Amino acid sequence: MIEDQRHLISPNRKEDDDRHWESIRPRTLEEYIGQNKIKMQLKIFLQAVNQRNEALDHVLFYGPPGLGKTTLALILGRELGVRVESTSGPALEHPGDIAAILTNLERRDILFIDEIHRLNRVVEEKLYPAMEDYRMDLVMGQGPAARVLPLELSPFTLVGATTRFGAISSPMRDRFGIICRLQFYSPGELIAVLNRSAGIMGISLLPEGAAEIAGRARGTPRIANRLLKRVRDFAQVQGNGQVTGKIADRALTEMEIDGEGLDSMDRSLLIVLAENYGGGPVGIETLAAALSEDKDTIEDVYEPFLIQQGFLQRTPRGRVLTPKSYDHLHMSLPESMKSSELPF
Ligand code: ADE
Repeated sequence: MIEDQRHLISPNRKEDDDRHWESIRPRTLEEYIGQNKIKMQLKIFLQAVNQRNEALDHVLFYGPPGLGKTTLALILGRELGVRVESTSGPALEHPGDIAAILTNLERRDILFIDEIHRLNRVVEEKLYPAMEDYRMDLVMGQGPAARVLPLELSPFTLVGATTRFGAISSPMRDRFGIICRLQFYSPGELIAVLNRSAGIMGISLLPEGAAEIAGRARGTPRIANRLLKRVRDFAQVQGNGQVTGKIADRALTEMEIDGEGLDSMDRSLLIVLAENYGGGPVGIETLAAALSEDKDTIEDVYEPFLIQQGFLQRTPRGRVLTPKSYDHLHMSLPESMKSSELPF
């Protein structure tokens, strides 16, 4: 796949998204579409702490990229009327980095740590007492002359985001009072997101156009919005500017996104499994090597949607294709899969 097309379907954030889409990011829970269970719970917790004028409990958002974890963190800040200090796991290299941030937080402020599963151990351990009782030991100097200065911090809220819940240590997990798993969006929810974005960006989006994009956006608002922008370009150059169903279909097909929203990397993954490994089971390392792709990217970015849509299963012995995949690829089922013993 050419790099440009991989960019289109990747749920990972791009600079381009950040620059242009600050204006379409929902700013309040009321504006935020989808994740209804999470919204309902957060609304109650927010109202309760706002009434008591306390800091919100620490919150962990987890789930595949592009579903709105950062957006929710920023919304929490706005709903609490506080500042949000944003950083990420890999950016915090030394204990001093986290100490500098923590000591600057004011009462009820939010510290948002993206990719929190990538924090190193020393930084993570510095966070434990801070999260537990808003306390931190500042170490001055080195070696035998080192002095420890206990510091009291302002009550704050740590909001963590991760694509890999399993990669967070259990002492860390235990310190979050609110843990929310974000779900893929339904086509109806994505249509609502697209209509809202089109309204803000002044795009004429017809219902069939919205439905076409929503059905092929992998349940992910970030991808839906990105596709909307590309389809708009097609509509402007090849049509009269209106995003119709037909234009959307043509544009998405041109971008190698199929009717189920799978891109060529998704299809390569399924084809490799079918053709090279008889449909599996095959280990993730083997699959990653065969596809020349990073193992974590396959696990975090590609697999969750394929699994959710029933194209792939994770078993203790490795990844296994489902009959739905064979059907989608127009390939015949191997003999072994026709037996009724398999759990399909
Ligand atoms: N844009 C991206 N995600 C959104 C969401 N969940 N609600 C509203 N607009 C969005």
